[in-house]
Amino acid sequence: MELDKSAAQSQGVSRAPSEAMSPDLAKLGNQLVSKFHVLMRVSQIYDAKNVTFRQFIQESLQTINALIQKEGILSLKILKNEIFLNDQRLRYSADGFTSFKYVLTHWQRKLIGGVTFRGLVEETVLNEFVFIFNSLEDGIEDNAARFTQRLADHGIRSVDVTPLEESASEEEGTTLQEEDNKEVAKKVFFETIGTVKEMITQIKAKQYPDVRKLKRLVQKTIHLVMEDESILLGLTTIKNYDEYTYNHCVNVSIYALGLGRRLGFSRETLTELGLTALFHDAGKSRIPKEVLNKPAALNDEEWALMKKHPLMGVETVLNLKQLGEINPRMVIGIFDHHLKGDASGYPKLFRKKEISLFGRIIQIADMYDAMTTFRVYRKAWTPEQALAIMLRDRGKQLDPILLKFLIGLVGIFPIGSLVLLSTGELGIVLKPNADPKWMDRPQVILISRDQKGYVKKELADLMATNGGNQFKRSIVKTLDPNKYHIDIAKYFL
Ligand SMILES: [Fe+2]
Ligand SMILES: [Fe+2]
Repeated sequence: MELDKSAAQSQGVSRAPSEAMSPDLAKLGNQLVSKFHVLMRVSQIYDAKNVTFRQFIQESLQTINALIQKEGILSLKILKNEIFLNDQRLRYSADGFTSFKYVLTHWQRKLIGGVTFRGLVEETVLNEFVFIFNSLEDGIEDNAARFTQRLADHGIRSVDVTPLEESASEEEGTTLQEEDNKEVAKKVFFETIGTVKEMITQIKAKQYPDVRKLKRLVQKTIHLVMEDESILLGLTTIKNYDEYTYNHCVNVSIYALGLGRRLGFSRETLTELGLTALFHDAGKSRIPKEVLNKPAALNDEEWALMKKHPLMGVETVLNLKQLGEINPRMVIGIFDHHLKGDASGYPKLFRKKEISLFGRIIQIADMYDAMTTFRVYRKAWTPEQALAIMLRDRGKQLDPILLKFLIGLVGIFPIGSLVLLSTGELGIVLKPNADPKWMDRPQVILISRDQKGYVKKELADLMATNGGNQFKRSIVKTLDPNKYHIDIAKYFL
């Protein structure tokens, strides 16, 4: 609840994009992938008779069969670095990233593109399945056929295995270095979400988490921001509704670091800023979930409690184990993050005070992320709507210089905006133009529609000309991705 109460509730409730699969199925799908991950790993250590292994087989069977009972069939397919469960794209939860990555890379290496279980699966079938999979060598073209044959040799005919489909070279123009950075960025991003979650859980349990682990992650994030900030900015479009609090803290730290970098902060100051941003809402760990996620307006009592979260955040941070890693600037930043320049913010102070720079930076980062995220009590604004509102309505409350930097950071067509181009094509903004003079000409990912919905076509630089002095493509206007059922985050993963 980062916005003013009135603004937060003025836009009514709307649903997330319909492209997403049902939460129940997504949950089971995530469980399945993590079960496969564990199973693939333990089967490399233990044999089929081992007690631990058999226990994992049983647990995996429960998930597999629950899915088959629910859906009648279970197919898992890999296409262009994504996993599809019964032909619907499976979005991974914040915790699920490692398992997804593991399953994806191992299946891809063995050139296995999919598996379908028709009918309930028995223990012996899953056993054979796992061990045959392990016995396949990497990179053999007819692995899928061999797999099917070996299953048949064991009398198993209810499982189909298909080869990996070649994905067209859709990432034209991306260099190996960019790909590497992208992979590292994803890992750091999801690891940070997981670590923030872990720490908040420890805080709730009155344990004292170790700040140093988070500090190392912030240092990695800073390195990535320096290398190519657009990769991390792209990941901020993920907006995981289930893990909102943690996801939000990580997004805020990415925006804050982008702003801090523009202010010329040293790496040391950036590390402090990043950590402060990750902890800015730590005080919410003491507010009941029912209040945090309440779909209706908060009553006075609940709102009063909500307004205490900056101060409770300060108390939480002062209780951390390595207090030496925390300095007053960080504590004040947390305290200040909802104070406003025109005294309309909170907590209410007896005397007017200057809002600290950390506080002002986090406030802007916080507001931008909160406004562009769908919440149970209001819809999400598109990135450029959020920027416009911040510029127009919040001008008195927010630091104008920092606002300018925010625009420089995300662009006037912010990363993740859906845009209509002069050619009639649709594009998603990938990277702002490095030259501020040409802010209206970012790099975009062109997308087009096929049977499965919108797919990524190629990258286009809007600076490209037709040979002469005419630009090949220009942005005509921005569009609302919800209306087109386009899940923006998918194009950044
Ligand atoms: Fe907050
Ligand atoms: Fe926040």
